[in-house]
Amino acid sequence: MIVCANFKANKTRQETQAYMAVVESFVSANNISDTVIVFPPFTALEHLPRNVLIGVQNAYPVQNGAFTGEIALEQLEEFAVTTILIGHSERRHILGETQETVAAKFRFFAEKGFTIVYCVGEPLEIREEGNEALMDYISNQFEGIDLEYPDLIVAYEPVWAIGTGLTPSVRDIELLHGALREKTKAPLLYGGSVKVDNAGEIMTLENVDGVLVGSAALSANDFCDMIAQAAELS
Ligand code: PGA
Repeated sequence: MIVCANFKANKTRQETQAYMAVVESFVSANNISDTVIVFPPFTALEHLPRNVLIGVQNAYPVQNGAFTGEIALEQLEEFAVTTILIGHSERRHILGETQETVAAKFRFFAEKGFTIVYCVGEPLEIREEGNEALMDYISNQFEGIDLEYPDLIVAYEPVWAIGTGLTPSVRDIELLHGALREKTKAPLLYGGSVKVDNAGEIMTLENVDGVLVGSAALSANDFCDMIAQAAELS
């Protein structure tokens, strides 16, 4: 199983250090062999030796250069970061990233050998249009994405389920993940209002290889609880 925590624009550097101390000691004390990835804000990146992977939530697809306000490869290399989240719905819908931008990021970081957690997911109005519209929408989010990239992890996160407490039914998650499985051999994560109470059930579903957790992962103890649930299933 793969269990990921996406901090978004939450937690200071100090809070992240305290959080990582809890999660890292939990992972060693329990001999967890599942993949655990934490995506802190850039300001909390560190050089520590880790048993937990650290990824970034975004980056600009260049080595370095005149891109005011952006973080590029050179700055990630300084922290030995080789894992990145691309295509998250907040970047697509709030920060206005187009499929073209997302695909350019994908190409650049794939060429650099990064592990890419690539997110797709539909807004509510698309889901309400029915299955065909839903699958078309998701397929368009794979435009320009190499689904055979060996270090790809795909995360299905319905926009309407992120941070809302709403989740699709287990049947709907299985249907969608079944359709994704036909497109790619990559591990498939579910994300969108995953919490301690539903993580275990979601991870038992067919074609679900892990979870990507936002708000409920902000508590280190709750995140450890979800890691433990994953480990029990592995
Ligand atoms: P959530 O966020 O768990 O708060 O719904 C998930 C995500 O955005 O990755």
